Amino acid sequence: MRGLFISFEGIDGAGKSTHIGALADAFKAQDRAVTLTREPGGTPLAETLRKLVLNDPMDPLTEALLMFAARRDHITGVILPALARGDVVLCDRFTDATFAYQGGGRGFDESVLTQLETMVQGTDEHDKSKLIQPELTVWFDLAPEEAAKRLAGARVPDKFESQPVEFFRRVADGYARRLIAEPGRFARIHAGQTQQAVWHDVYAVFVAKGWLT
Ligand code: TYD
Repeated sequence: MRGLFISFEGIDGAGKSTHIGALADAFKAQDRAVTLTREPGGTPLAETLRKLVLNDPMDPLTEALLMFAARRDHITGVILPALARGDVVLCDRFTDATFAYQGGGRGFDESVLTQLETMVQGTDEHDKSKLIQPELTVWFDLAPEEAAKRLAGARVPDKFESQPVEFFRRVADGYARRLIAEPGRFARIHAGQTQQAVWHDVYAVFVAKGWLT
C-alpha cells in the first residue's frame, strides 16, 4: 500500500475534528492503517512546543520558528516513518496553518515562511520544488462570524482562539491564497452546512480520489 498524507485546515471553530476522527474510522474499516496526528504536536517534543506556542506571549518570528521546529520533529519522527509503512496519515493542520495564522493573521512576512518551509520540508537540497506536502488538504471554509458564534463559551480559549473576528478574516484570506497558489492540492468544504452535509461532502472527496469506497 502506498502511504497517503492528508491535512485538514480551517479557522478555529470550523469543526474539522469530528470529521477527521470519522475518516480515520472509515479508512480502518477498509483495512488501511491510519496515523492520526496533529500540529503543532504529534511527538513528545512537538507537544511540549505546542503548549508554549499556544499559551505564552512571544514575538512573531519566535512563534513561526517554534511552529516549524515542532513540524520538523513531527515530520522526521512520525510523518515520514508512517508514510514509509504505507499508512494513511491524517494530520490536523500542517504548513498551510502557518501561512494562514502567522502569515495572514499575524501579518508575518510570507517570504520568510517560504524559506522556513523549504528548509524544514525539503527532501532534496538540489531541488527546492521537492517539498514534503500533503497530497490532499481539506479546507473547512467557514465565515469568521459563524466560527466566533460556535466558539463562544465552548471552552477556555487559547492564544489564537481569543483573537478578534478580524484576525480570523485575515487567517481565512491566508488559506484562500494558499488554495489559489496550489488549487490541485485543496478540497474546499463549505463548513457552514449541517454536520451531516459537511460529512457527506468530505466523504465524497475521498471517494472521488479512489481512496474510500
Ligand atoms: P487546533 O488545531 O484548533 O486544536 P484544538 O482543536 O485542540 O484547539 O489548535 C491549534 C491552534 O494553533 C490553532 O489556533 C491554529 C494554531 N496554529 C498556528 O497558528 N500555526 C500553525 O502552524 C499551526 C499548525 C497551528
